[in-house]
Amino acid sequence: MQERIIQFLKESDGYISGEEMSQRLNMSRAAIWKHMQELRAQGYEIAAVPHLGYQLVACPDKLLSYEIQSGLNTKIIGKEIIVRETVTSTMDEAFRLGNENCPEGTVVCAEAQSKGRGRLGRAWISPKSKGLYFSLVLRPQLPLNRLAQLTLMSAVALAEAIEEISELKPLIKWPNDILWDDHKLAGILTELRAESDQVNFVIVGIGLNVNTSTHQLNAGGTSLKVAAGRSFNRAVVFQAILRSLEKWYVKLLDHEFGLVMQEWKKRSATLKRRVRITDSTGIIEGEAVDLDEDGALLIRKDNGLIIKKMAGDVFLLR
Ligand code: BTN
Repeated sequence: MQERIIQFLKESDGYISGEEMSQRLNMSRAAIWKHMQELRAQGYEIAAVPHLGYQLVACPDKLLSYEIQSGLNTKIIGKEIIVRETVTSTMDEAFRLGNENCPEGTVVCAEAQSKGRGRLGRAWISPKSKGLYFSLVLRPQLPLNRLAQLTLMSAVALAEAIEEISELKPLIKWPNDILWDDHKLAGILTELRAESDQVNFVIVGIGLNVNTSTHQLNAGGTSLKVAAGRSFNRAVVFQAILRSLEKWYVKLLDHEFGLVMQEWKKRSATLKRRVRITDSTGIIEGEAVDLDEDGALLIRKDNGLIIKKMAGDVFLLR
């Protein structure tokens, strides 16, 4: 019911009388008053003026599933959204949900993570209510060797959504860091459960620094707020990302990975740059010349040899 009241207040121009609300929502004025108190306790600022009624002044900077879901209009991604206050990692939550057979597209997000994790065993710093930290459960019918496509697709979707809601033009550093001005804005972590060659489910974890201040960021990191010089409503950013993920995921399912690659290349911070890549086999340096169908990066070494890398840590040199 609170969702309906909030929706109603949002759609109203100026003050709306208790009488009108009570009629339209089919609820007593006392019940409306009680809901208003509860909404205020959740952080909504609601003005109440005798003879005029109620007006929504400000929404709390909190992730609330109905705020995220209202008007989302997606068919798969975010049909189910679970919001937690503090978790170890949303990846752990998503694994649990995946094992419990949650529907495809289920999203679990948290205001804070005590053990947020990144690629290559790194930590993902997740200060409370500053960023978006979420994991998405997907059940694609893809063979294991095509799963890298999901990561590239997610990077494209994330970069596109960021561009849509801000004036920034983020780039993608292979395989899946989202950069602005060579500083890291967001990261993507893909994990999965599979038995033999059969993928059970894939978890795509996304961490985006939204209203994070400089002192809360890792060296080399940035946030939407630092980059754009203003704060963002996280629910709005979240919706844009979920819609974009749906758009690109559907393309992937429709065998249009070519379009994903095209877009990835357009937004690449890596191609045509000199790079150093470190992985378990050592370090190589050269020019990043292309991305191949299975998501690998092709590097031309100084001796002309082309090396294909499926994983690794990239340093952009010039
Ligand atoms: C990386 O850049 O190394 C990937 C970072 C991924 C961070 C996100 S935050 C939400 C989800 N939960 C985690 O513990 N990690 C991912």
